Amino acid sequence: MLAPMAGITDVVFRALVRRWAPESLICTEMISSNGLVISKQRKARILDHTECDHPIAYQLAANKPEILVEAAKQVIEDHNPTTIDLNMGCPVKKITGNFEGCALMREPEHAAFLIRSLVKEIDRPVTVKFRLGWDSNSMNYLDFGKRCEDAGASMVTLHARTRAQGYQPGCKWEAFGELKQALSIPVIANGDIRTAEDAKTVIETYGVDGVMIGRGCQGEPWVIGEFDTYLKTGEPPRQWTLEDRFEVALEHAQHLVDYRGEKFGIPEMRKHLAWYAQGFRGVRAYRNELTQVNSMDDIRAIFDRILAEQQERLPEEAVA
Ligand SMILES: Cc1cc2nc3c(=O)[nH]c(=O)nc-3n(C[C@H](O)[C@H](O)[C@H](O)COP(=O)(O)O)c2cc1C
Repeated sequence: MLAPMAGITDVVFRALVRRWAPESLICTEMISSNGLVISKQRKARILDHTECDHPIAYQLAANKPEILVEAAKQVIEDHNPTTIDLNMGCPVKKITGNFEGCALMREPEHAAFLIRSLVKEIDRPVTVKFRLGWDSNSMNYLDFGKRCEDAGASMVTLHARTRAQGYQPGCKWEAFGELKQALSIPVIANGDIRTAEDAKTVIETYGVDGVMIGRGCQGEPWVIGEFDTYLKTGEPPRQWTLEDRFEVALEHAQHLVDYRGEKFGIPEMRKHLAWYAQGFRGVRAYRNELTQVNSMDDIRAIFDRILAEQQERLPEEAVA
């Protein structure tokens, strides 16, 4: 599965992921229920979908049941999602300060109330994504997962870090096995799963029902599909050349420009370009340049220079 990532898993990125992963569940960025219902942003770009998105989870953040239910109903009416996912893991202060995201792990009864209210009112599976707990002194993922299940959640995803850990290294993968043992509903593992081997290890060792990949697919939208194929058939991921990577990057950039225009699409693309440009000598200097491009021509010119330089290097390295 593709993890929800704010600022990354937009409609353009998801279409690329889908090309290699026809069967995976993919997720939107986190959507504010308050934004939808109170600020009436029903037409916001973050909600856009295309037909190729399905199966898709729309992820909502909320704290008030009536607002959550109204937001979910709007999303279902407008976008026909496969599932509604509730964000109960976001560590960002702006969100937790509003008693949304991971703050709900400190209010497990209220979290269960939110889930129950939503399950009762909509005709889609409700899933929940959460962390180990607020911090290392309050790791309540087992109790929290059980409450999600009892409240009617159809599936949970565990990001195996606490809120206090943010995104630092040190995922507690053992927690996947404990949660899987404790629950009857499907459990999805998330956190630092970077390779197809990691995905296999997590599934085989902890018995989880699936894996969700976040940062591992930044600049590599093909990995979700490649991991899926590896898990199903044993076929290993292919080796991507720099030319191949740049071809996808240019396509990604062009789609963003078509979607948002060059003025907004190119700045949006800069971080992706830095992720696509991986695995060659001198990468740092070029990454810096790539985060300052202003047009498709700028991107093409830098890619051409990188490829030419790598070509020149090849014979030299072969001799060495
Ligand atoms: C830039 C970024 C944005 C994220 N946005 C969201 C989000 O909107 N909703 C959510 O549940 N998790 C969000 N996450 C967390 C990821 O979904 C995932 O749980 C986390 O990155 C760990 O998985 P990974 O190690 O595979 O990246 C975000 C992570 C990153 C790096």
